[in-house]
Amino acid sequence: MSEESAPTPTVEEMARKLFSGPISFLKSAPSLDHLPAPDVEEIAFAGRSNVGKSSLLNKLTNRKDLARTSNTPGRTQELNFFDIGDPLRFRLVDMPGYGFAKAPKDVARKWRYLVNDFLRGRQVLKRALVLIDSRHGIKDIDREILKMLDDAAVSYHLVLTKADKIKASELRAVEQATAEEARKHPAAHPDIITTSSETGLGIDQLRKAVIEAIG
Ligand code: GTP
Ligand code: MG
Repeated sequence: MSEESAPTPTVEEMARKLFSGPISFLKSAPSLDHLPAPDVEEIAFAGRSNVGKSSLLNKLTNRKDLARTSNTPGRTQELNFFDIGDPLRFRLVDMPGYGFAKAPKDVARKWRYLVNDFLRGRQVLKRALVLIDSRHGIKDIDREILKMLDDAAVSYHLVLTKADKIKASELRAVEQATAEEARKHPAAHPDIITTSSETGLGIDQLRKAVIEAIG
């Protein structure tokens, strides 16, 4: 078969190829002065402390310890950039969590400004993935971030995490409530993605959403 007549790869095939190819840590940015040059599109992981951002980034990229995870909230303290593809296709950004009640006030404030200022000011940010713990659903602190993203017209996808930790019936209920709330947010994607970094649930769908966001 000549190259011209080869079938166009499906999104699933593109995703599989991309996430099994070269992926590398680029840098950590403790403040906005340290961001990498905005030379490629980015997708950022946002969400409350301990919701599972770093674990999901690892699962998405099929790497065990690319991003550091921990039982203790407050593990990720800087913006961490990961290069996907060689040649470079896009970057994933792992961010500190918000809403960590036990963090010293000045530290919590620093992370909050860092995350907010990055999300609303980053030209190359293509989409945010806003992670919600499926055991808890959307909290007021999440709503503040969703509103900020709506106001800044940054499109985002709501992603439920840790689905392995609750019963199927409870999961259906939180999916419904989250989808209903998503419909009220102008910048939210209407589909909710339910995931587990433990079982791999929803990872194909998440990869597909990332590829579609990058275009
Ligand atoms: P911060 O960087 O502190 O904001 O946390 P984070 O959102 O990056 O969370 P992280 O990925 O470090 O995960 C927090 C804890 O939840 C770790 O103990 C993970 O093993 C656990 N965890 C994450 N995702 C899942 C999941 O899908 N299922 C289960 N059972 N545990 C998970
Ligand atoms: Mg983390």
